[in-house]
Amino acid sequence: MNYFFIAIISYLLGNISFAYILGKIFTKKDVRDYGSGNAGATNAIRAFGKKIGAMVFIGDVLKGVIAVLIGKTLGVTGMYLAGAMVIIGHNWPVFLNFKGGKGVATTIGVMIIASPFVTMICFVLGLVVIIATRTVSLGSIIGMAMAPLAAGIFVRPFDMSLFIFCLFIGTMAIYRHKENIKRILNGKENKL
Ligand code: G3P
Repeated sequence: MNYFFIAIISYLLGNISFAYILGKIFTKKDVRDYGSGNAGATNAIRAFGKKIGAMVFIGDVLKGVIAVLIGKTLGVTGMYLAGAMVIIGHNWPVFLNFKGGKGVATTIGVMIIASPFVTMICFVLGLVVIIATRTVSLGSIIGMAMAPLAAGIFVRPFDMSLFIFCLFIGTMAIYRHKENIKRILNGKENKL
């Protein structure tokens, strides 16, 4: 196993889009034709209901966990490389014409292994926002923006590699939510 294989395996794991696969298996429909068009758990709930949505969420989290556990066999660099690549594979899957999801559930899986402490802070904050506003994207954006802040402010001793990784995944998640941000600002965002 070397870094190149870790990167490829993780990217391919990310390509396993549970929203797309489970939607096709159970309903024969493409999740990307519904709601926000996103191949993720939130849109799977809109398109196919809570049960399939929950399965999508669990599957997307688990592939993040698995990739990072494989990457970790090569140490911290392997872990972060795997984490970045599985999220990239989820967001831009070659097998789905690069039209994937926004990476939040997969990021949760990655971060549970990389830093359970940062995950807990971001998850609780995101969940509170979602419950208060019924807007998953807003909770995702705020939770993901919190990742580098939590890593920088609360993790002691300061861990530069964790901070940089959180900055990277936080920026990527916010970038993937750019259409959501426009809709939120225009008061037109989809609610759960
Ligand atoms: O994780 C995706 C979520 O934050 C937003 O999903 O379908 O409302 O764009 P959606």
